[in-house]
This record gives sequence, C-alpha cells and structure tokens, in this order.
Amino acid sequence: MRKPLMAGNWKMYKTPAETHAFFEAFKPLVADAAHCDIVICPPFPDLPVAIKEAEGSNVAIGAQNLYWGREGAVTGEVSGHMLQAIRCEYVIIAHSERRQYFGETEPDVVRKTQAALEFGLRPIVCIGERLEERESGRTEDVLAEQIDGGIAPLEPEAFAKIVIAYEPVWAIGTGKTATPKIAADAHGFIRRRVASRFGDDAAKAVRILYGGSVKPDNVKGLMDEEEIDGALVGGASLDPQSFASVVKF
Ligand code: PGA
Repeated sequence: MRKPLMAGNWKMYKTPAETHAFFEAFKPLVADAAHCDIVICPPFPDLPVAIKEAEGSNVAIGAQNLYWGREGAVTGEVSGHMLQAIRCEYVIIAHSERRQYFGETEPDVVRKTQAALEFGLRPIVCIGERLEERESGRTEDVLAEQIDGGIAPLEPEAFAKIVIAYEPVWAIGTGKTATPKIAADAHGFIRRRVASRFGDDAAKAVRILYGGSVKPDNVKGLMDEEEIDGALVGGASLDPQSFASVVKF
C-alpha cells in the first residue's frame, strides 16, 4: 500500500508574513489528517517561517529547487546542504516551469536528484508532456525520454527514495485537469517504464503524484484511481481552506 502524498507548490507566491498566516489557518484544518503525507513547498525566503510553523505538526516542508554541490561560486543558487541545515525535508526537481523557463534538462534532473539525496532531502521529480506533444501522439515517447534520461540513471537505492510527479504541462495553471483516466493511463505507463529498469517491486512502491489544476472538486475522482498516489497542487494550495479540502479529498 502506498500512502498518499499531497504536496502544495506555492511557486512565486507569498511573503513570510503571508506564510505565517497560512499556517495558522491551515494546521488546525488538517490536524487529524493521518491518511496522507502533507508537504508544502514555499519560496526560499519563506522556508524558515514555514519550517518553524510546521514544527510538531503533520505538515512537512519542501523547497522548489536546488543546485547540486555543497557550496560554491554559483550566484543566485541554493544548495541541498543549505536546505538540510534549515531542516527542509523535500525538494521539487525539474518542475515544468524550471524546464521551460530555465532550460533544465534530464542531466540536471539526475544531478539535482542525487544532490538532494546526498543532503537527506526527498526529491519530488516532475515529468510530463506539453500540449503539442500530446496532440501529436507523442506523450509516451516524451515520458519515456524523461524517465530514461532523468530517472533511469539513478542507483536503485536512490530510486527507492524519490517521489515522481506526473504533470502534463497543458494542465498546469490552465484549469484543464487531465481526466482521471488520462492521468491513470500515464501513471501506468510511467510505472511500467520504471519497472523495466528498477524491477516490479520498486515500481510498485514508488509514489506517483498527479499535478495540473487539482482542485477540491476534482481531487476525489483522481484519487479514486489506484495508480494515482497523491497530488502536486499549485493554485489550490495557496488558500488554507482549499488546500485542506484537497488534502482531505
Ligand atoms: P496548478 O499547478 O495546480 O496551479 O495547475 C500545479 C503545479 O504546477 O505543480
């Protein structure tokens, strides 16, 4: 049995004061939610406040990106070592916005995932096809390329510690959620593909989240699919009530 994981990705939203206000409202709403793991990924400047607020609660905190290496002359970047030092627990890797706007590639995924694990962070590795790729029937080819290039090079011990997020780019921030069937089919493909590299047991154990316009009113249908192990939620994670409803699906 895979325990569901519901993760909020705040992207470039909220100040530290707004982060504080969010947690004050959110924590009581989910205090008795034991059926799933809950993670919130705020922007870097909000992490210390979020980590302090989440202390002793059932909410874990993640970053939205990291750079490989412990420290160095890399202006503007943040290392896994720094995230570990502030007791951050998760990190999102290669979100489609990172791939699209900052040119992150499969070798980056490997380096960042390895760096996250080296510093004790749990990586949430994002993959997913763009609209034109789906429309031209290339969804599985794209997922296969992303898995083969970004995930397959990991050692089996590393693979056992990651979470995968399937986020079709056409569904992110567009209000166009994938139907439960579309998402479950993609998850099934991803699971079979990782099974061919890491074996059936490892593939059965890995959690695959769906992301892309997950909202309180569509989360149940998605979570009813056996293949869907949780959600990576952008817009609907910014409001405490709305994310609490998603968490409680
Ligand atoms: P969305 O974002 O829920 O706002 O579509 C999801 C994501 O980008 O992780």
